[in-house]
Amino acid sequence: MTEQYVHGYSPEEANRLMKQADVLKPYLEGKMHFSAGSKVLEAGCGVGAQSVILAKLNPGCEFTCVDISSSSLARAKQLANEREMANVKYVEADIHDLPFHKNVFDYCFFCFVLEHFKEPEKMLQQVSKVIKPEGSIRAIECDLGAAEFSPFTPDIKAIVDGAISLSTQSEGNACMGRLLEETMKKAKLRDVKAKKIAIDTRDTTNGIHALMVLKEIVIPVYKGMKNNMISKCLIESLQYDNGIKQLESIVENHNKYFIDAIYIAEGKPYKP
Ligand SMILES: C[S@@+](CC[C@H](N)C(=O)[O-])C[C@H]1O[C@@H](n2cnc3c(N)ncnc32)[C@H](O)[C@@H]1O
Repeated sequence: MTEQYVHGYSPEEANRLMKQADVLKPYLEGKMHFSAGSKVLEAGCGVGAQSVILAKLNPGCEFTCVDISSSSLARAKQLANEREMANVKYVEADIHDLPFHKNVFDYCFFCFVLEHFKEPEKMLQQVSKVIKPEGSIRAIECDLGAAEFSPFTPDIKAIVDGAISLSTQSEGNACMGRLLEETMKKAKLRDVKAKKIAIDTRDTTNGIHALMVLKEIVIPVYKGMKNNMISKCLIESLQYDNGIKQLESIVENHNKYFIDAIYIAEGKPYKP
C-alpha cells in the first residue's frame, strides 16, 4: 500500500466501513464461521466493523485483529469494548511484517484488503508463515469494474473508470474480485476454492439488500473518492455530479437496476 491509501482515514470513511459491514452481513454471514476453539487472524481490520461481527458469530474462537492505522485501531477497540467482546484483541502492525511466531493461527481472514496492494500474492505468502499448515486463508473482495447499472450512462461509466484509475495510481487494483482465485494460486496457496455471491436489485428475495449495497456502499465509495478523482483530472466535476445523481436515481426508481457480486476465495497456506 502506498502513502495515498485510496479510501483515506476520515471519520466519514470510518462510518462507511461500519455501514458496509452491516449491509454486507446477509451476504457474508455464512462465510464468516470458523471451527470452535480456533485462533483467527483478521488482517487489515480497519475500524473493526467486521471484527465485532466475526467475534459475535464465533464466540468460541479467539480473534487477533491487525491494522497499520493506529486511529482505526483506537476506534476498533472502543467498539469492541462497547459491545463487551472478550474474544477480540487488536494489534498495530504491518501485514508484511507480522509480529507473531510461525504457525500460530488456524485461519486468516482478509476483507477488502488485498485490493490495496501492488503484489497481493507476496502478502498472502507473508501471512502464510503465521498460519498452521492445515489452516486456511480466506479473502473477500469486490470488483468495481464488474458492476452493471441500468441505465449504464456515460457519466456513471466515467465515475467507475475514474475510481479504477485512481486505485491503479495508488498501486492497488479495484477489480481484485475477478483476480482473487488467480492471486491465491499465484501465491501458491493450496486447495484454492473460490465463489461469487450475486447481488441483484431485481432479485425477489434479497433485492432490497442489493439496493442497500448500491445506496450505502457503492455510492459512498465513489463520493469518498470525489476530490482525488477531480484533482487528478480523472473526471470533470460536472460529469461526476451528474453521474452521482444518476446512480441515486437507480436507488429511487424500481424500473432501473444494479447488479454486482462479492468474491470469496479460500486456500491453505503456502509452506515452501
Ligand atoms: C478497506 S479497509 C477494510 C477494513 C476492514 N477489513 C473492513 O472490511 O471493514 C482496508 C484496511 O487495510 C489496512 N491496511 C492497509 N495496508 C495494511 C498493511 N500493510 N498492514 C496492515 N493493515 C493494512 C488499512 O489501514 C485499512 O484499515
